[in-house]
Amino acid sequence: MEIKATNTPQLEWAGDALAIGLFENAIELTGDMAKLNEMLAGTLSELIEETEFKGKANSSASTRVGGTTPIRKIIIVGLGKSEELKLDTLRQAAATSGRLAKKERCKTLGISLPMCQDADSTATAMTEGIELALHKDNRFKSELENQGPDVEKVELIGLAGSNEAIARARQICSGVILARELVAAPANSCTPITMAETAEALAKEFGLALEILEKEDCEKLGMGAFLGVAQASDLPPKFIHITYKPEGTPRRKLAIVGKGLTFDSGGLNLKPSGSGIEMMKTDMGGAGTTFGAVKAIAQLKPDVEVHFISAVTENMVSGHAMHPGDFLTASNGKTIEVNNTDAEGRLTLADALVFAEKLEVDAIVDLATLTGACVVALGNDIAGLWSPNDDLAAQLTAAAEKAGEKMWRMPLEEKYFEGLKAMHADMKNTGPRPGGAITAALFLKQFIKDTPWAHLDVAGPVWIDAESGYNNPGATGYGVRTLVNWVLN
Ligand code: BES
Ligand code: MN
Ligand code: ZN
Repeated sequence: MEIKATNTPQLEWAGDALAIGLFENAIELTGDMAKLNEMLAGTLSELIEETEFKGKANSSASTRVGGTTPIRKIIIVGLGKSEELKLDTLRQAAATSGRLAKKERCKTLGISLPMCQDADSTATAMTEGIELALHKDNRFKSELENQGPDVEKVELIGLAGSNEAIARARQICSGVILARELVAAPANSCTPITMAETAEALAKEFGLALEILEKEDCEKLGMGAFLGVAQASDLPPKFIHITYKPEGTPRRKLAIVGKGLTFDSGGLNLKPSGSGIEMMKTDMGGAGTTFGAVKAIAQLKPDVEVHFISAVTENMVSGHAMHPGDFLTASNGKTIEVNNTDAEGRLTLADALVFAEKLEVDAIVDLATLTGACVVALGNDIAGLWSPNDDLAAQLTAAAEKAGEKMWRMPLEEKYFEGLKAMHADMKNTGPRPGGAITAALFLKQFIKDTPWAHLDVAGPVWIDAESGYNNPGATGYGVRTLVNWVLN
């Protein structure tokens, strides 16, 4: 698919489908819209009337255009109230236009939307919307159903000059798509071994430094928490560290750490059926997003050094599994009583965070499908954000807002650490059920000394259920765009 910006005016654009955005408070057709309606012999006003189109955000309608007009279909998308226009409104409107064009079997699409902020930000958001709406993961289908023609060419009307921004947005999208594909792949296809292979492929393609610590290397570093989780699996654990280094002196040094459980059975505190155990292929979502960010950042080439880290393994059951109640020693010397083997993500992250801090970076952000409690608190769309550092929290909140990815800051309520006090070890890995996402964050905090650090619990937003009624069900690639914005900032 080709996406390009054009200065061809809306009235002169020719192609299969023309999509136009309409505000809720400006639905009467005036100016260019009136002229377009005239050119289309009143089809536009008829469509608005017949569908009772009110311009509400996320609403849309489309119809065939008769006669000898230069366009075949007209698509209208609602933009909500003009004073509430956000970049994400445009991202969604462009996504809707793309989906409708595909459904209506249009090969060429022109999109005309108002500008938000500036031309480049507008083009970026629109490109992300279209590209990600039209991406379909057919890797595991033996046959493709009702495909129809693909949208081959998209033109962003009125944004000529933003082709650079479009190209960069597409690089970011390639990272989002990689994250989606990694998360969507089942646990018999995406394993610690294949994750290491993906890291090798990324390093090779983009000339990045890659370090893969095998089990023995992790033993030498004393990564007892990570290895405790890994010990029941028949597959070898892989501790993956990819480094992006800019030419010249980096402006900052950052680390991104992703939880990488290619499957989470719960270990001997096994997940019961009905707990969503069959969805636990998504438990490497943090690592998927981390790899997606590698792909995007390696192409965007910012003047920032970034370390991408994931301790990848499965959480399985076997005769050599951790016993509930075992004590583990993490690589910073802290001892942990594993009172629940299903709270495994924080064990793997403990050693990954200690490793990240040794790199002497300016900030560390971890992403993890860490707790069901976070999903209970914030639902499926919103990630939880924990950080003792207000600056870092603000940076991430701003990066997420720009990305159209929702997150909400949660408290690191120190008093709740009481719930993790252990009799003989330094701490337990699980506290009481209330505030479970907070105690998980407090657990992680024990493995950070003084580097600014933030934790994102992405258990909700990494995946959208098919039954949810959302347009793009499946893996979302949540977090890649936020991380890119944060690193580039
Ligand atoms: N991977 C899960 C968290 C999760 C739950 C992710 C639902 C996505 C959807 C994590 O390892 C886990 O099992 N957490 C437990 C912690 C509990 C044992 C303290 C949970 O949330 O139930
Ligand atoms: Mn678990
Ligand atoms: Zn897990």
